[in-house]
This record gives sequence, C-alpha cells and structure tokens, in this order.
Amino acid sequence: MKAEPETMELVFVRRDAADSIDRAWAYNLEMSRRRSVRDFSSETVPLEALRAAISAAGQAPSGANKQPWTFVLVSDPERRAAIRDAAEREEREFYERRASDTWLDDLAHLGTDWRKPFLTDAGALIVVFSQATDAQGGPHYYVRESVGIATGILLSALHLAGFATLTHTPSPMHFLRELLQRPANERAYMIIPVGYPADGCRVPQIKRRALADILVEM
Ligand SMILES: Cc1cc2nc3c(=O)[nH]c(=O)nc-3n(C[C@H](O)[C@H](O)[C@H](O)COP(=O)(O)O)c2cc1C
Repeated sequence: MKAEPETMELVFVRRDAADSIDRAWAYNLEMSRRRSVRDFSSETVPLEALRAAISAAGQAPSGANKQPWTFVLVSDPERRAAIRDAAEREEREFYERRASDTWLDDLAHLGTDWRKPFLTDAGALIVVFSQATDAQGGPHYYVRESVGIATGILLSALHLAGFATLTHTPSPMHFLRELLQRPANERAYMIIPVGYPADGCRVPQIKRRALADILVEM
C-alpha cells in the first residue's frame, strides 16, 4: 500500500476583497517604479538585505519542489573585476560580430554597448545559476520556468527593499561557472547587479503595454 504523503497545516492570511484590491494595486504601483539601472553609484549595500531577498527567492515554487537554483552573492572587488573583464570580452564579440542587425536595432533604444561598468560599480552582484540536474545527476523538472519564477521574486524583493537592479545576460555566459567555481550541473542564468543609482541616473524612455493589451478575460 502506498504511504500517505506527510502534510502540515496551511498558513494562509485571508483578506477581504477591498483589502486584496488595494494591495494588488499598491504592488502594481511599486512594480511600475522598477527600472533596469545601468549607472550605479559605488556605495556599499547591506549584504544582510540581499541575503533576505535571496531567501525570499528560495520560497519560489519549482518543478517537483527540486529548487534547481543557486544564488552566488559576489562582493569581492577582485572577483567582480574578473567577471567584468570576461563579460566585456564576450559582449565586445557580441556587439561587433555575433549579434544580428535586427538584434542590434532592437537594442539601440537602450543605448547599451560592450562596456559593462555596472559589474564593478554596483554595490554587489547576485549571479543566478540553474541546476540542470541534482549533484548526483538525478532529474530536475521545468528548470528554466522554476529559476525564472525565483529570479522574478528576487528582483521584486530587491526592489521592495529599496535597491536598484539590472538583469544582465552576457552572451554567452558560461565563463561564470568557472570564475565562480560552480559544479558541472549548474549553468549561469543571469547576473543581477544590485545597488543604488548614480546621482542623476537616467534610464531609457520606454512604454509598457496597457493592461487591456496583455489581459484576455473570458
Ligand atoms: C532575460 C533578460 C535579459 C536581459 N539582458 C540584459 C542585458 O544583458 N543588458 C542590459 O543592459 N539589459 C538587459 N535586460 C534588461 C532589459 O533591456 C529591460 O528589462 C527592458 O528594456 C525593460 O526596461 P526596464 O527593465 O527598465 O523596465 C534584460 C532583461 C531580461 C528580462
């Protein structure tokens, strides 16, 4: 006979409809203020706050609860210089040779190029790794979806805690596994520079699609 799965009581805060609506729109307002920042001040950040945000990311749902993620918090200046060096090498190749004209056209409004000063300027870097399998080679499921959700929670937690962030994906980024001494089952997923914007920081003028354009109700 199959054993019954162990259960525990759900902790759930029941709210009335008006409270739910208020909270959801308040969260929307907060998120509407999240922007990708590429111009950071070199102020230090309280690492304890970043640890708490990473802990929040670790509460994410994941395929079969395999939690296929590792977050590497990098504050050491020498390591960050090495990451910048390697990222700029890959990005130079990307911008000057690898990227298609269409891709470069799509990036033009952001004003980005191969230079990545935020990798050494921002208070810290969080490098997200996905785990293709567990350490013994056992299966993980829906890895990209799971790590994407955890990373979204991380970005939200960092923003709510008062930090500016960037989602940076140097292309390709396998150099990170070696530089950060991660095992063979892990793949670099994203670098998140975290910190405070430089004085007078400006960001690209962008538009969000309207709710009516992204929501289908039936
Ligand atoms: C998966 C992903 C990868 C990204 N990679 C980069 C990157 O490598 N460099 C960069 O400057 N911005 C990167 N971005 C940031 C986007 O350009 C940015 O989110 C978009 O322009 C919207 O601007 P916002 O984040 O300020 O709302 C990335 C965003 C996502 C979601």
